[in-house]
Amino acid sequence: MQEMPASKAYRLLEAGPIVLVTTSDEGRPNVMTMGFHMVMQHAPPLIGCVIGPWDHSYKALQASGECVIAIPTVDLARKVVDIGNCSGGEIDKFKRLRLTAKPAKDVTAPLIGQCLANIECRVADRSMIERYNLFILEAVRIWVDAERKERRTLHHRGDGTFVADGKIIDLRERMVLWKQFQD
Ligand SMILES: Cc1cc2nc3c(=O)[nH]c(=O)nc-3n(C[C@H](O)[C@H](O)[C@H](O)COP(=O)(O)O)c2cc1C
Repeated sequence: MQEMPASKAYRLLEAGPIVLVTTSDEGRPNVMTMGFHMVMQHAPPLIGCVIGPWDHSYKALQASGECVIAIPTVDLARKVVDIGNCSGGEIDKFKRLRLTAKPAKDVTAPLIGQCLANIECRVADRSMIERYNLFILEAVRIWVDAERKERRTLHHRGDGTFVADGKIIDLRERMVLWKQFQD
């Protein structure tokens, strides 16, 4: 084994699906790219998200307490990177990147029509924001595009390279202790 810097731990662990986070800044929709997120609890469903104060989205999320986590697929890879390389403080990203904003049901932030799934979220716990920029969100509603052909998600390796979802390995029959999570 060769040693690598401890500061690069995220390069080994970041690769959950890259997601887009939409917010509404007093009615103006915005979107950012996010790799630093984790599921924290089944019920109620909690998701931890690191969103830095340098992001315009941070202010909107702090103020509104609401966002949508949208899940893009591999066909949107270039757009995902472009969204994360500009700021809604300067441009209208929905317009510039030709994204379709659709109304959500429980939050003011928009869904993204081009994405495979959209999770409507509310900030559930603000206690980690100041120290870690960590927003703990509760998922309140999920929408999935059942018609979509391309369903492979995209996984950031932390350095601008990505892995596309591949073969599914079905080991459900071995999950003897965890059957309740299979439906
Ligand atoms: C692949 C990728 C992953 C990113 N992950 C995060 C992240 O986890 N947290 C974060 O605060 N910014 C992340 N960023 C940076 C934001 O997406 C970027 O600062 C964005 O432009 C902020 O937009 P806003 O100013 O409109 O909010 C990422 C960018 C890219 C390209």
